[in-house]
Amino acid sequence: MSGSRFITLEGIEGAGKSTVARTLGDELRRRGGEVLLTREPGGTPLAEAIRGILLRRGTEDLSAVAETLLMFAARAVHLDNAIRPALAAGKWVICDRYTDASYAYQGAARGVEPALIDRLAAAVHADLWPTRTLLLDLPVTEGLARARRRGGPADRFEDEHQEFFERVREAYLARASADPQRFRVLDARADEPGLAAAALAAIADLLPA
Ligand code: TYD
Repeated sequence: MSGSRFITLEGIEGAGKSTVARTLGDELRRRGGEVLLTREPGGTPLAEAIRGILLRRGTEDLSAVAETLLMFAARAVHLDNAIRPALAAGKWVICDRYTDASYAYQGAARGVEPALIDRLAAAVHADLWPTRTLLLDLPVTEGLARARRRGGPADRFEDEHQEFFERVREAYLARASADPQRFRVLDARADEPGLAAAALAAIADLLPA
């Protein structure tokens, strides 16, 4: 299946992905496109239930491998019940996080073997990678400060220390430089209008003339 209208957003917490996702969605709709705005883990009722398990700060341990399997279980459901049908109907899909996040968080930060993630990605979506991935990059201290200002109770990931997010950031940057055709790295320290403009410029070549 062609993923020509499949755009993903990645970055550490506090990078501003959801604001950028809304801006891109609004612009695509303004141009007459139909848009599915969605997120991972989650995006369908069943996948959102798995998200609840993943983010909850419970008392029972969740190993890094179990966490990885749940991420991909949610992703498989999301692909089957939301992403693939939307693409097949000619819609744009803008997804806040996807498999790059599994390589960065479960792989680089939690230490799961990249070969396991490769196998799960091949099993779940060998045929479907995003056409364009926008990496919203900013220093970890700034991202964490913004995420804290946003308030709300911290989830299981937001409990992690700075070093964890440094590994996530480095892994994202390494993946972006290994695949410059798919990735665009945006400076997420820009103000909101500046970041929105950069995000639109980064998908301009995908838009119909
Ligand atoms: P998200 O809702 O994007 O969090 P935030 O808005 O705080 O940035 O994602 C929830 C968490 O799930 C986030 O901390 C990253 C994590 N995550 C993974 O660890 N692996 C994955 O494959 C995905 C999709 C998300």
